[in-house]
Amino acid sequence: MLHSFSVSCLIAGSPWVVLSRSFLEFCIIGWDNLPRTLLMYFNNVMLSEESYFLSVICNSPEFKNTTVNGDLRYMIWDNPPKMEPHFLNISDYDQMVQSGAAFARMFRENDPVLDMVDEKILKRKRKEVAPGAWCSGWKSRWSDPCSQWGDVNVVKAGRQVKKFSETITNLLDDWNSHSNQCT
Ligand SMILES: *[C@@H]1O[C@H](CO)[C@@H](O)[C@H](O)[C@H]1NC(C)=O
Ligand SMILES: *[C@@H]1O[C@H](CO)[C@@H](O)[C@H](O)[C@H]1NC(C)=O
Repeated sequence: MLHSFSVSCLIAGSPWVVLSRSFLEFCIIGWDNLPRTLLMYFNNVMLSEESYFLSVICNSPEFKNTTVNGDLRYMIWDNPPKMEPHFLNISDYDQMVQSGAAFARMFRENDPVLDMVDEKILKRKRKEVAPGAWCSGWKSRWSDPCSQWGDVNVVKAGRQVKKFSETITNLLDDWNSHSNQCT
């Protein structure tokens, strides 16, 4: 039996996406055929990670108004752009931090700029995890408070929260001014 394939647009964009729980449930639980049909189609397409979620969300009437155009990543591209952005290093640290992005790429393995992020932003000590409000153990010279944890969903604002909230506000202003970002 042939399935009809009525998708108005296949879309490519950043493969780096932040997905809501309700959209992922739509993709996984499968009460609608679209996510499954597109999955079969994109199985045979190169760089399908740049198209799958965008095509599903932009062709789903109940989700297409919920897309926000921003991948929250700091990158430096050549002009004209090459296949990949620059490797970021300590010369890029200040700009990267000022950008208000939550993520960045690309980095060389063990690049010193990664230690700067650990030390200055995450307050993460060598061989320990990044501390957060979820750490519930005793804090002492001998023990790492993060060796025990409480509620892992607790979020406590860190040093970069102001910049990050500006980023989100700008994205949402953009979104409010033309809510269908698929076109
Ligand atoms: C999405 O936006 C369009 C245009 O503003 C509107 O007509 C439609 O009802 C919206 N869909 C949902 C599910 O909110
Ligand atoms: C960082 O990378 C840029 C090229 O992307 C280079 O010009 C600069 O010298 C590098 N800085 C350090 C400290 O390695």
